[in-house]
Amino acid sequence: MQIGFFDSGIGGLTVLAEAIRRLPDKDFLYMADTLHVPYGTKPKEDVKQYIFKSVGKMMEQGIDALVVACNTATSIAIADLRDRYSLPIVGMEPAVKPAVEMNLATGKRVLVFATPLTLQLPKYYALVSRVDEKGIVDSLPLPELVHYCEALQFDRDVMADYFLRKLSGYDLNEYGIIVLGCTHYPFYKDILRSILPAHIEIVDGNVGTVKRLSALVSRFGITGRGGSGQVRFMCTGGEPAYIDKMQTALAMLLERES
Ligand code: DGL
Repeated sequence: MQIGFFDSGIGGLTVLAEAIRRLPDKDFLYMADTLHVPYGTKPKEDVKQYIFKSVGKMMEQGIDALVVACNTATSIAIADLRDRYSLPIVGMEPAVKPAVEMNLATGKRVLVFATPLTLQLPKYYALVSRVDEKGIVDSLPLPELVHYCEALQFDRDVMADYFLRKLSGYDLNEYGIIVLGCTHYPFYKDILRSILPAHIEIVDGNVGTVKRLSALVSRFGITGRGGSGQVRFMCTGGEPAYIDKMQTALAMLLERES
Protein backbone atom coordinates (compact mmCIF):
# COMPACT_ATOMS: atom_id res chain seq x y z
CA MET A 1 0.00 0.00 0.00
CA GLN A 2 1.06 3.59 -0.52
CA ILE A 3 0.25 6.32 2.00
CA GLY A 4 0.24 9.90 0.72
CA PHE A 5 1.64 12.75 2.84
CA PHE A 6 0.93 16.31 1.82
CA ASP A 7 2.32 19.65 2.97
CA SER A 8 3.16 23.04 1.46
CA GLY A 9 6.87 22.23 1.81
CA ILE A 10 9.23 20.20 3.99
CA GLY A 11 7.18 20.53 7.20
CA GLY A 12 5.19 17.34 6.69
CA LEU A 13 8.46 15.41 6.72
CA THR A 14 8.42 15.73 10.52
CA VAL A 15 5.21 13.67 10.47
CA LEU A 16 6.46 11.32 7.75
CA ALA A 17 9.58 10.55 9.83
CA GLU A 18 7.32 9.46 12.67
CA ALA A 19 5.25 7.31 10.28
CA ILE A 20 8.36 5.60 8.87
CA ARG A 21 9.38 4.70 12.44
CA ARG A 22 5.96 3.30 13.32
CA LEU A 23 4.83 1.79 9.99
CA PRO A 24 8.02 0.50 8.40
CA ASP A 25 6.21 -1.96 6.13
CA LYS A 26 4.33 0.73 4.17
CA ASP A 27 5.35 2.79 1.14
CA PHE A 28 4.96 6.54 1.12
CA LEU A 29 4.38 9.26 -1.44
CA TYR A 30 5.32 12.73 -0.18
CA MET A 31 4.04 15.78 -2.02
CA ALA A 32 5.20 19.37 -1.37
CA ASP A 33 3.42 22.32 -2.97
CA THR A 34 6.64 24.15 -3.82
CA LEU A 35 4.85 26.49 -6.21
CA HIS A 36 2.91 28.02 -3.33
CA VAL A 37 4.82 27.52 -0.08
CA PRO A 38 4.28 29.14 2.42
CA TYR A 39 0.55 28.80 2.90
CA GLY A 40 0.26 30.41 6.31
CA THR A 41 0.58 34.02 5.13
CA LYS A 42 -1.68 33.75 2.05
CA PRO A 43 -5.44 34.26 1.62
CA LYS A 44 -7.54 31.28 2.62
CA GLU A 45 -9.43 30.91 -0.67
CA ASP A 46 -6.21 30.86 -2.72
CA VAL A 47 -4.67 28.24 -0.43
CA LYS A 48 -7.79 26.09 -0.74
CA GLN A 49 -7.38 25.95 -4.51
CA TYR A 50 -3.67 25.08 -4.17
CA ILE A 51 -4.54 22.21 -1.84
CA PHE A 52 -7.15 20.74 -4.21
CA LYS A 53 -4.71 20.87 -7.14
CA SER A 54 -1.89 19.18 -5.23
CA VAL A 55 -4.08 16.51 -3.69
CA GLY A 56 -5.63 15.86 -7.13
CA LYS A 57 -2.11 15.14 -8.46
CA MET A 58 -1.48 12.73 -5.60
CA MET A 59 -4.71 10.88 -6.33
CA GLU A 60 -3.53 10.33 -9.93
CA GLN A 61 -0.54 8.46 -8.47
CA GLY A 62 -2.80 6.00 -6.65
CA ILE A 63 -2.69 6.40 -2.89
CA ASP A 64 -4.62 4.28 -0.37
CA ALA A 65 -4.74 6.82 2.47
CA LEU A 66 -3.86 10.49 2.82
CA VAL A 67 -2.25 12.40 5.66
CA VAL A 68 -2.71 16.15 5.39
CA ALA A 69 0.57 16.76 7.23
CA CYS A 70 -0.10 20.46 7.54
CA ASN A 71 -2.12 22.24 10.21
CA THR A 72 -2.91 25.16 7.91
CA ALA A 73 -4.21 22.94 5.07
CA THR A 74 -6.22 20.84 7.51
CA SER A 75 -7.95 23.92 8.91
CA ILE A 76 -8.88 25.11 5.44
CA ALA A 77 -9.76 22.01 3.49
CA ILE A 78 -10.10 18.81 5.50
CA ALA A 79 -13.92 18.72 5.38
CA ASP A 80 -14.00 19.39 1.61
CA LEU A 81 -11.32 16.80 0.93
CA ARG A 82 -13.31 14.18 2.85
CA ASP A 83 -16.42 15.10 0.83
CA ARG A 84 -14.56 14.82 -2.45
CA TYR A 85 -12.55 11.61 -1.85
CA SER A 86 -13.58 8.35 -0.25
CA LEU A 87 -10.16 7.15 0.95
CA PRO A 88 -9.19 7.48 4.64
CA ILE A 89 -7.88 11.02 5.32
CA VAL A 90 -6.04 12.02 8.48
CA GLY A 91 -5.66 15.71 9.30
CA MET A 92 -3.75 17.65 11.94
CA GLU A 93 -4.64 20.25 14.52
CA PRO A 94 -2.48 21.98 17.11
CA ALA A 95 -2.23 19.71 20.19
CA VAL A 96 -4.10 22.20 22.38
CA LYS A 97 -6.37 19.64 24.05
CA PRO A 98 -3.62 17.37 25.44
CA ALA A 99 -1.61 20.46 26.41
CA VAL A 100 -4.50 21.95 28.41
CA GLU A 101 -5.13 18.59 30.11
CA MET A 102 -1.45 18.21 30.99
CA ASN A 103 -1.32 21.73 32.43
CA LEU A 104 -4.48 21.76 34.53
CA ALA A 105 -2.67 20.27 37.53
CA THR A 106 0.23 22.77 37.39
CA GLY A 107 -1.86 25.92 36.89
CA LYS A 108 0.60 27.06 34.20
CA ARG A 109 -0.40 28.55 30.85
CA VAL A 110 -0.12 27.05 27.35
CA LEU A 111 1.48 28.92 24.44
CA VAL A 112 0.58 27.80 20.90
CA PHE A 113 2.94 28.57 17.99
CA ALA A 114 1.33 28.31 14.52
CA THR A 115 1.01 30.09 11.18
CA PRO A 116 -1.04 33.31 11.07
CA LEU A 117 -3.66 31.56 8.91
CA THR A 118 -4.12 28.60 11.27
CA LEU A 119 -4.61 30.95 14.20
CA GLN A 120 -7.14 33.12 12.31
CA LEU A 121 -9.40 30.33 11.11
CA PRO A 122 -12.68 29.30 12.78
CA LYS A 123 -11.41 25.72 13.30
CA TYR A 124 -8.74 26.96 15.72
CA TYR A 125 -11.14 29.28 17.52
CA ALA A 126 -13.63 26.40 17.89
CA LEU A 127 -10.90 24.10 19.24
CA VAL A 128 -9.74 26.58 21.86
CA SER A 129 -13.30 27.48 22.89
CA ARG A 130 -14.06 23.76 23.35
CA VAL A 131 -11.05 22.80 25.44
CA ASP A 132 -9.84 25.96 27.18
CA GLU A 133 -12.48 26.43 29.89
CA LYS A 134 -10.05 28.18 32.23
CA GLY A 135 -8.65 30.61 29.64
CA ILE A 136 -5.05 29.41 29.91
CA VAL A 137 -4.21 29.27 26.19
CA ASP A 138 -2.29 32.03 24.39
CA SER A 139 -1.36 31.98 20.69
CA LEU A 140 1.71 33.33 18.93
CA PRO A 141 1.86 33.47 15.10
CA LEU A 142 5.35 32.94 13.65
CA PRO A 143 5.01 34.18 10.04
CA GLU A 144 8.77 34.07 9.31
CA LEU A 145 9.53 30.59 10.59
CA VAL A 146 8.43 28.59 7.53
CA HIS A 147 10.68 30.81 5.35
CA TYR A 148 13.65 30.02 7.59
CA CYS A 149 12.83 26.33 7.56
CA GLU A 150 12.41 26.15 3.77
CA ALA A 151 15.80 27.85 3.45
CA LEU A 152 17.23 25.14 5.78
CA GLN A 153 18.26 27.86 8.20
CA PHE A 154 19.14 25.76 11.23
CA ASP A 155 21.99 27.88 12.56
CA ARG A 156 21.64 27.78 16.33
CA ASP A 157 22.58 31.40 17.01
CA VAL A 158 20.41 32.89 14.26
CA MET A 159 17.37 30.88 15.26
CA ALA A 160 17.84 31.24 19.03
CA ASP A 161 17.96 34.98 18.47
CA TYR A 162 14.73 34.84 16.41
CA PHE A 163 12.83 32.84 19.07
CA LEU A 164 14.11 35.02 21.91
CA ARG A 165 12.89 38.14 20.09
CA LYS A 166 9.47 36.55 19.52
CA LEU A 167 9.23 35.51 23.16
CA SER A 168 10.52 38.75 24.64
CA GLY A 169 7.05 39.94 25.68
CA TYR A 170 6.23 36.74 27.59
CA ASP A 171 6.99 35.80 31.19
CA LEU A 172 8.02 32.19 30.56
CA ASN A 173 7.62 31.30 34.25
CA GLU A 174 3.87 31.50 33.65
CA TYR A 175 3.96 28.83 30.91
CA GLY A 176 4.20 25.06 31.27
CA ILE A 177 3.87 23.94 27.65
CA ILE A 178 4.61 25.25 24.18
CA VAL A 179 2.56 23.63 21.41
CA LEU A 180 4.14 23.45 17.95
CA GLY A 181 1.03 23.93 15.80
CA CYS A 182 2.75 23.83 12.39
CA THR A 183 4.56 20.80 11.03
CA HIS A 184 7.60 22.85 10.01
CA TYR A 185 8.28 23.86 13.61
CA PRO A 186 9.54 20.52 15.04
CA PHE A 187 12.70 21.05 12.96
CA TYR A 188 13.50 23.65 15.65
CA LYS A 189 12.75 21.50 18.70
CA ASP A 190 16.39 21.16 19.78
CA ILE A 191 17.10 24.88 19.38
CA LEU A 192 13.94 25.76 21.30
CA ARG A 193 14.85 23.26 24.03
CA SER A 194 18.20 24.99 24.45
CA ILE A 195 16.68 28.45 25.06
CA LEU A 196 13.53 27.59 27.04
CA PRO A 197 13.47 27.15 30.82
CA ALA A 198 13.70 23.44 31.73
CA HIS A 199 10.15 23.32 33.17
CA ILE A 200 8.54 24.10 29.78
CA GLU A 201 7.53 21.05 27.75
CA ILE A 202 7.42 21.23 23.96
CA VAL A 203 4.65 19.20 22.33
CA ASP A 204 3.53 18.60 18.75
CA GLY A 205 0.74 16.54 17.18
CA ASN A 206 2.98 14.21 15.16
CA VAL A 207 2.86 11.04 17.26
CA GLY A 208 -0.90 11.41 17.79
CA THR A 209 -1.43 11.85 14.04
CA VAL A 210 0.57 8.75 13.18
CA LYS A 211 -1.33 6.74 15.82
CA ARG A 212 -4.59 7.80 14.17
CA LEU A 213 -3.18 6.86 10.77
CA SER A 214 -2.15 3.44 12.08
CA ALA A 215 -5.62 2.82 13.54
CA LEU A 216 -7.30 3.86 10.26
CA VAL A 217 -5.02 1.69 8.18
CA SER A 218 -5.92 -1.35 10.32
CA ARG A 219 -9.62 -0.47 10.44
CA PHE A 220 -9.86 -0.13 6.67
CA GLY A 221 -7.72 -3.25 6.19
CA ILE A 222 -5.41 -1.36 3.85
CA THR A 223 -2.73 -3.96 3.32
CA GLY A 224 -2.77 -4.58 -0.45
CA ARG A 225 0.40 -4.21 -2.56
CA GLY A 226 2.67 -4.77 0.47
CA GLY A 227 5.31 -2.14 1.11
CA SER A 228 8.90 -1.78 2.18
CA GLY A 229 9.31 1.66 3.71
CA GLN A 230 10.06 3.27 0.37
CA VAL A 231 9.51 7.02 0.05
CA ARG A 232 8.78 8.69 -3.27
CA PHE A 233 8.92 12.49 -3.43
CA MET A 234 6.97 14.86 -5.65
CA CYS A 235 6.63 18.62 -5.74
CA THR A 236 4.29 20.84 -7.70
CA GLY A 237 7.18 22.81 -9.23
CA GLY A 238 8.96 19.58 -10.18
CA GLU A 239 12.38 20.98 -9.16
CA PRO A 240 15.03 18.22 -8.84
CA ALA A 241 16.93 20.35 -6.30
CA TYR A 242 13.88 20.42 -4.05
CA ILE A 243 13.62 16.61 -4.18
CA ASP A 244 17.26 16.48 -2.98
CA LYS A 245 16.41 18.94 -0.25
CA MET A 246 13.51 16.78 0.95
CA GLN A 247 15.73 13.70 1.01
CA THR A 248 18.38 15.52 3.05
CA ALA A 249 15.82 16.93 5.49
CA LEU A 250 14.15 13.54 5.97
CA ALA A 251 17.51 11.84 6.59
CA MET A 252 18.29 14.51 9.18
CA LEU A 253 14.98 13.87 10.96
CA LEU A 254 15.39 10.09 10.90
CA GLU A 255 18.81 10.38 12.55
CA ARG A 256 17.26 12.24 15.46
CA GLU A 257 15.45 10.74 18.43
CA SER A 258 11.69 10.95 17.88
N1 DGL B 1 3.52 23.11 7.59
C1 DGL B 1 2.33 23.81 7.54
C2 DGL B 1 1.50 23.77 8.80
O1 DGL B 1 1.55 22.79 9.49
C3 DGL B 1 2.19 25.04 6.69
C4 DGL B 1 3.25 26.05 6.71
C5 DGL B 1 3.05 27.11 5.63
O2 DGL B 1 3.10 26.76 4.45
O3 DGL B 1 2.87 28.26 6.00
O4 DGL B 1 0.78 24.67 9.11
